[in-house]
Amino acid sequence: MSRTVRVAVTGAAGQIGYAILPRLASGEVFGHDTRVALHLLEITPALPALEGVVMELQDCAFPLLDDVRVTDDAKEAFEGVNWGLLIGSKPRGKGMERGDLIRENGPIFVGQGQALARAAADVRVLVVGNPANTNCLIAMHHGVKGGIPRERFHAMMRLDQNRAQAQLALKAGVRVAEVTNVAIWGNHSATQYPDAENAKVRGRPCTEVIGHVGWLQGEFIQTVQQRGAEVIAARGLSSAASAANAALDHVRSVLHATPEGEFFSAAVASTGSYGIDEGLVFSFPVRSDGRGGIEVVEGLELSEFARGKIKATEEELLEERAVVEDLL
Ligand code: NAD
Ligand code: LMR
Repeated sequence: MSRTVRVAVTGAAGQIGYAILPRLASGEVFGHDTRVALHLLEITPALPALEGVVMELQDCAFPLLDDVRVTDDAKEAFEGVNWGLLIGSKPRGKGMERGDLIRENGPIFVGQGQALARAAADVRVLVVGNPANTNCLIAMHHGVKGGIPRERFHAMMRLDQNRAQAQLALKAGVRVAEVTNVAIWGNHSATQYPDAENAKVRGRPCTEVIGHVGWLQGEFIQTVQQRGAEVIAARGLSSAASAANAALDHVRSVLHATPEGEFFSAAVASTGSYGIDEGLVFSFPVRSDGRGGIEVVEGLELSEFARGKIKATEEELLEERAVVEDLL
């Protein structure tokens, strides 16, 4: 055993928390030679429920699980962590957009960004709580003020990427793993743009393999944009297993070098790539250097159709930023 990785999970007694914790402890993300310590943050009334989750973690007898801490204090939760998975926040209900949560959930990320900067010197942060991009913008703003590099903050777009990849695989009649280079652009919302034009199926342009432009520009995009709402309508609760899975995929993709010629999707602070307003937390195609650093893939071709969609999702993020101006 070479080392212990410390992972903070906020909202640990929630649905996604329940789905993600055993998988973090199992070794499937950080490797079977790395011990895992879990720092679990909840609001005070949820601590008794969280104790039940901790009992279950003990009862799994995970050989790699080193240490489990439970607290309602953000600074204590983030002490010395290598990863902060910021999940804790209210989910939307039927008929709501994720952006409707912004005034309620946004303030959570002020204190957590500040606490991360005070408590964790070498941390990478993934914001899952909705609206994820703008919550990440808030956490990043306060974290950067406290000395955490801007590039360490990401908002989760992997669920959208996985959804898009699965829909393309179904349509093309191939295995999911044979669909690559699925870029999701913009906001984790109904304006996101899942990009089939740059996607590949068995290494060939997806547009050539599927060929059905009407479907690619219509039903495909709408299915991915509306999938979260569809899950809520069917389950009465928002996605949890697939969200937890996507968060783990994101962490894994950051930790391992991206195969040559490929990319994955993550929302990061824009530095002006593709003309996107600087500082917005915007989803781009990105690559990992395998040492925890990711960079935006430049130079992808974008049709006029794609540029219009990307502009619309950028505009929505600019509006969201204006709504939380007082938190920045
Ligand atoms: P949930 O209601 O089951 O759990 C949320 C938990 O967060 C609760 O236990 C709650 O007590 C806790 N919490 C609330 N405020 C907190 C705070 N200040 N600090 C710590 N914990 C706090 O919800 P869920 O289904 O687990 O979803 C959590 C969030 O993730 C929601 O905002 C949801 O919309 C979002 N989500 C995002 C994606 C994505 O792709 N980005 C996917 C699915 C869900
Ligand atoms: C999702 O995409 O499933 C989540 O963001 C939950 C939601 O509100 O749709």
